[in-house]
Amino acid sequence: MSNSTPYQTILVTGGAGFIGSNFIHYWLKKYPQTKLINLDALTYAGNLENLKDVAHQSSYQFVKGNILDRELVDQIMSGVDAVVHFAAESHVDRSILEPAIFLETNVIGTQVLLAAALKHRVKRFHHISTDEVFGSLELWSKEQFHNHTPYDPRSPYSASKAASDHLARAYGETFGLPFVITNCSNNYGEYQFPEKLFSLAITNLIEGKNIPVYGDGKNIRDWLYVQDHCSAIDVVLHQGSDGETYLVGGLTEDVSNLEIVKMIIKLMGESEDKIEFVKDRLGHDRRYSVDWSTLNKKHGWKPSVTLEEGLAKTISWYRVNRQWWQPLKEKSQDFFKLNYQQKD
Ligand code: NAD
Ligand code: DAU
Repeated sequence: MSNSTPYQTILVTGGAGFIGSNFIHYWLKKYPQTKLINLDALTYAGNLENLKDVAHQSSYQFVKGNILDRELVDQIMSGVDAVVHFAAESHVDRSILEPAIFLETNVIGTQVLLAAALKHRVKRFHHISTDEVFGSLELWSKEQFHNHTPYDPRSPYSASKAASDHLARAYGETFGLPFVITNCSNNYGEYQFPEKLFSLAITNLIEGKNIPVYGDGKNIRDWLYVQDHCSAIDVVLHQGSDGETYLVGGLTEDVSNLEIVKMIIKLMGESEDKIEFVKDRLGHDRRYSVDWSTLNKKHGWKPSVTLEEGLAKTISWYRVNRQWWQPLKEKSQDFFKLNYQQKD
C-alpha cells in the first residue's frame, strides 16, 4: 500500500492499550503526516510507557479522558476525519468477574463516540471488534466464521462487543454514518498486558512459574500477530466500503491452547512440567476460526509472519522488556488471586 492517506486527523481511542499502541507506532511510521489524537482513560490496561518513543512527535497528541465523557468527546471530535475505535474493556475473565463496566465502556462508550462522529461528519468510523461476537464453533468441525455468520456472543465481554457492533450498524443504517467494522481474532505480540494467554505464559516462564491451562487445553483460537492486525486495519480504513464488515484472522490450521503452550515452552527451552491444568473458564468458547479470505482475495492482505516467527519475536521482546511487564503483573495480583483461586 502507498504511504499517502486521505485522513489528516485521526482520533484513536484506547491508544494506550495493547493493539492501540501498536497501531499508533505502525501509523506514525507509515503516515507521519497524519495528526493522531489518542484518547485514553488509562485504565489498568492503558499504559503510556507503550508510547514513550512517539510521545514527543508533533503529529501525536495524547488526551487523558473517558469515552463516556460526552462533552470531552464532542470537543475532541471537531476537525477529526476518521475514528479508529479500540477503547474497550477487553479481558473475558474480567468480564466474568465484573460485567457492568463492560457494558458501560463497550456499549455506552461506543454510542457516545458514534453520536459525536455523526455530529462532526467524520469521513470514516472504524469500529474495532472481535470474532467472539460469533460465539463458539465445535472442536471437531471445519466451520469458520464469515461476515454473514449470525451473532451468538456467550460471555459478558462478547455480548458487550456484539451490542457495540449493532450500534455502529444502527448509526450507519439510521443516520448514514460512514462506518466499517473489523472483527478480528486473538492478537499476540509486543505490549500485550500480561494477563492474556501468550503474555502470561511467556512472563510466567521467565519468572520460573507454571502456565495455567484452562480445562483440557483443547480450546482453539485463531492467533494473529498484532502488527498484522494493524496492517489489516490500514487496508480496511483505506479500501473498505462503507457499511461493510471485514473478518481478520491469522491462521489457516487449528492450533489448540495446549499446542500453543507447548510451542512457547519449546521456543523458550523450558520443560512441559511447567504446564498446570486448572479449572475451566465459565462458558469457555471451544473453538474460533476466521475466514479472512475476503481481505486476502479482494485487498491482497495476509499475515506477514508465521505463528512460529511471531512467537519468537514476541518471546524476545518480553525477555528484554521485563521492566515493562513486571510492575503490571505486580499491580494485577488481586485479579490473579480472584481469577485463579476460583480455578484451583
Ligand atoms: P486493552 O485492554 O489492551 O486496551 C484497552 C485500552 O482502552 C486501554 O488503553 C484502556 O485504558 C482504554 N480504555 C478502556 N476503557 C476506556 C474508556 N472508558 N475510555 C477511554 N479509554 C478506555 O485492549 P486490546 O487488547 O488492545 O483491544 C483493543 C480493541 O481490540 C478492543 O476493542 C478489543 O475488543 C478489540 N480486540 C482485541 C483482540 C485481542 O486479541 N486483544 C482481538 C480482537 C479485537
Ligand atoms: O478472539 C478475540 C479475543 O481474544 C479478543 O476479543 C479479546 O479481547 C482477547 O482478550 C482474546 O480473548 P480470549 O479469551 O480468547 O484470550 P485469552 O488470552 O484470555 O485466552 C486465550 C485462550 O487461552 C482461551 O481459550 C482461554 C485460555 N487461557 C487463558 C488464560 C489467561 C488459559 O488456558 N489459561 C490462562 O491463564
